[in-house]
Amino acid sequence: MGTHPLLKVENVKKYFPVGRAVFGRSKQYVKAVDDVSFTIDVGGSLGIVGESGSGKTTLAKVILRLLEPTSGKVYLDGVDLFSLNNKELRKLRPKMQMIFQDPMASLNPRRKIMHIIGQVFKTHTSIGDVEIRERVVDLLEKVGLTPPELFLDRYPHELSGGQRQRVCIARAIALNPKLLIADEPVSALDVSVRGQIVKLLLEIYEKHIDEIAYIVISHDIALIKSLCKDTLVMYLGRVVEKGEVRRIIEEPLHPYSQMLISSIPVPDPEIARNRKRIPIGGEIPSLINPPKGCYFHPRCPYVMDRCREKTPSLINVDDRLVSCYLYSE
Ligand SMILES: Nc1ncnc2c1ncn2[C@@H]1O[C@H](COP(=O)(O)OP(=O)(O)OP(=O)(O)O)[C@@H](O)[C@H]1O
Ligand SMILES: [Mg+2]
Repeated sequence: MGTHPLLKVENVKKYFPVGRAVFGRSKQYVKAVDDVSFTIDVGGSLGIVGESGSGKTTLAKVILRLLEPTSGKVYLDGVDLFSLNNKELRKLRPKMQMIFQDPMASLNPRRKIMHIIGQVFKTHTSIGDVEIRERVVDLLEKVGLTPPELFLDRYPHELSGGQRQRVCIARAIALNPKLLIADEPVSALDVSVRGQIVKLLLEIYEKHIDEIAYIVISHDIALIKSLCKDTLVMYLGRVVEKGEVRRIIEEPLHPYSQMLISSIPVPDPEIARNRKRIPIGGEIPSLINPPKGCYFHPRCPYVMDRCREKTPSLINVDDRLVSCYLYSE
């Protein structure tokens, strides 16, 4: 398998304007995504982890141009996505797919499953109705909705949460995407079906590993670990740490990562003893008036003077990137 960057994200920003400029005060923005860069090779998988409001969904939507970027560049297999016009973008859509946070909201309640998945082929291919039906049946089988005939004529509300998520996954993989983004793929689901969906996502990923780049978004780093090799840790729109998920869980460097890791229960008392404990606490600052310097400094137990002045840049430490003055000379 040759590795080359399939997805390249460069300095992506998304600022949402809020309110109106008034005399003496400039226009205000929510800096939902603030200068994020990373690459994923063919066959690579990347997690995006962070608390609610850290910009995970916004980043995903900007990458797929479901939201227009404020600035930055995204290349998918060498194609500059931000320079495409609507027609070109529509043509590329099947190649970049997202499984959304809320499976119910992303399925049309008035359409049957046959129509919902079949529509993808109608829009993007010229294959006829008989073959579309065969393809939909195949897909339902692939995502474990069997026998498929039992599901074709049902409406989304006639399915369980786990089954609905399977439909969303079937639709997303229908036309062999190169980039697949799963946004909180199991958080709307019952604990008992989460494992099954994780298993399905892993099977799909492994089957398509030669052609796909894969992003999983979650507030839960343990879920990220079961699906991805590497992860970004995001805090208020910025990347604070990046590296192998396993390493970040074993030895989180950024105090914010330490805080996230502290919140996962560990069965092994040895790990628990060695773990730096940082209680989750403090208010998440406002994104409209973020603090100067490192955004995490008001909540950080190791805060130093310079943390309040200037944002630390991402630097290489051991086997990863981290943005924290604790690790620079
Ligand atoms: N259309 C919008 N207009 C203004 N602000 C927005 C808009 N969409 C998102 N935001 C803000 O951007 C920030 C990031 O939101 P986003 O949904 O990306 O977070 P998230 O990390 O996905 O959170 P969650 O874990 O809750 O899904 C939030 O402060 C949110 O209020
Ligand atoms: Mg989200």
